[in-house]
Amino acid sequence: MFEIKKRDELGRIGRWSFEGRTIETPAMAVVVNPNKMTIPTDELENEFHAQLIITNAYIIKQSKYLEEIKKNKLHRFLGWDKPIYTDSGTFQMYSLGKTDIGTEETVKLQIELGSDIITPLDEFTFPTDTKSEVEKKMKKTYANSLLAREIINEHNKKYKRELQFNSTVQGGVFMDCRRECARLVSSLNPDIISVGGIVPLMEQYRYKTLTDIILNVKKTASINVPLHAFGCGHPMLFSLMVLCGIDVFDSAAYALFAKKKKYITVHGTLDMNELNYLPCSCPVCSKFTSSELIKNEKLLAKHNLYVTLSELNIIKQAIASGTLRRLTEMRCASHPTLYYAYKNLEKYNSFMEKYSSFEKRSSFFFISELSRTNTDLYRLKKRSKERQDTKDKLKFIHSDIPYGLKNMFPVGQNLLPFNIARRNKSVTAMRKLPKLDVFEEAKERLQYQFGKKLSSFFEENKSQIQVNISKTKIHRIKEMRMNDILIGVFSAKTGFFIPTFSGACEIRKYLGVNDYCVRVKNNVVSFAKEGKSVFARHVKYCDYKIRPHDYVFVVDSKNNLLALGQALMNKREMKEFKYGVAVNIRKINKTGKE
Ligand code: GUN
Ligand code: ZN
Repeated sequence: MFEIKKRDELGRIGRWSFEGRTIETPAMAVVVNPNKMTIPTDELENEFHAQLIITNAYIIKQSKYLEEIKKNKLHRFLGWDKPIYTDSGTFQMYSLGKTDIGTEETVKLQIELGSDIITPLDEFTFPTDTKSEVEKKMKKTYANSLLAREIINEHNKKYKRELQFNSTVQGGVFMDCRRECARLVSSLNPDIISVGGIVPLMEQYRYKTLTDIILNVKKTASINVPLHAFGCGHPMLFSLMVLCGIDVFDSAAYALFAKKKKYITVHGTLDMNELNYLPCSCPVCSKFTSSELIKNEKLLAKHNLYVTLSELNIIKQAIASGTLRRLTEMRCASHPTLYYAYKNLEKYNSFMEKYSSFEKRSSFFFISELSRTNTDLYRLKKRSKERQDTKDKLKFIHSDIPYGLKNMFPVGQNLLPFNIARRNKSVTAMRKLPKLDVFEEAKERLQYQFGKKLSSFFEENKSQIQVNISKTKIHRIKEMRMNDILIGVFSAKTGFFIPTFSGACEIRKYLGVNDYCVRVKNNVVSFAKEGKSVFARHVKYCDYKIRPHDYVFVVDSKNNLLALGQALMNKREMKEFKYGVAVNIRKINKTGKE
């Protein structure tokens, strides 16, 4: 079971449950080799607060501990009470060029070893594979997955267990193959989906292609389960990957790099031989010098793991604060190939914007040329074209924006470098824009939020509508009334209009019947009316225009308004998620009139 707790674009903080144990994503599956424990599991738990470990069926099959592990099971053998993930042996096909483990054998062995997440044998696709080779491997990968699904289903049914099933997406560098494979594996109802065949790309610094692959997989893979980037363990990539929709990483890098005397940082890898100062304050680096670290592989591995795990905390906080893009932009300035990869995201703006919150907790920061590609700006430009009809425009980061959006996010809540801010201002001053009319401003904002159709609401009710401004020094528009009845307030922070229940009824008269509607199932109608949250599984229909944090109309099957809510998901998410809140109710009908 997986549910979203907080989100920022495709990045999400999730709760992933396993037969009573729960972990939080984005999560790191720390790679553990039972033959050689670089960092013992009690240290992983107590010092690193690791939540998940991953080991490999193929390696265990060759191990002298095989029988002991079979007898005691992985949890007892490794002294690890939290979830254990196992891989099948596919990767050895890539790294060693051979695999001595069968399709059925690896699944059954993983079950016998006591793993919590089982991975079938997939066929590793290389970036150099031709399309016909890739297609052949995808077919085999799917067939293996199908067989594994059946074995796991049977086992779960027989022993009343909830072992989880991981299905891997292959497809080489062919994006249509990636999308097709993601669709196929999703049809098997996996508990987690992994993206395979990406290690060579990471080794070759081909991060642009990596973003293409992850985003193409994200388009068609079930969105209601965690997505794992197989073999991605370098923290400099994490924020970019989370922004593209990755929830799980695995890292052997912390140990492998230590062996080669490599020191991991969030900006890249440093060679211990050239390191005079330690640019880190983890428990290892605070206590030891670089000359001590260079001689001690375990200490170096520990530092590597500390930075790896702490980057995940930095990312989680960025998601919670709505600043994941800003963090990613900073990280991607670390290396030209990362910069290029971030720039590539612009190609996916129309896809990514669907997941981007409407209301941001933080101002828009222009911190580099990459900021131009932000989904907030993409949305601003797109909606300005599609939804607004004003002639008065204002310049904002080289785009013409309706003047009425002056105080609305992101135009009203921004921090721009002086050269750009000055250019915006000088253009505005030259145009001699009129003093902002509060009626026009309210109209522009509502059209931006709910669509162009609201223009007639303002035209037809011009004499009844009053827009009031705040009495504070700022003089921003504060509320809107119709014949003295409050129909909504404007958020002081972002400028968005939050209708009252009666306001929602009024503006709905001018919208299409499904516009910004979430229709709920009959059995939850009374709960929604009382103000209880609407869960994703109770949603019958959601308008495609809805974005996370949009104010939405919760309606019954006859389109009667039940409540005004704030969506936490978009249409696709409401459709696919079985768990979690889809809409938080904000305003209910307190008049008693239907
Ligand atoms: N580990 C790294 N890459 C892969 C992959 O493509 N498949 C599997 N099963 N494991 C991996
Ligand atoms: Zn350190």
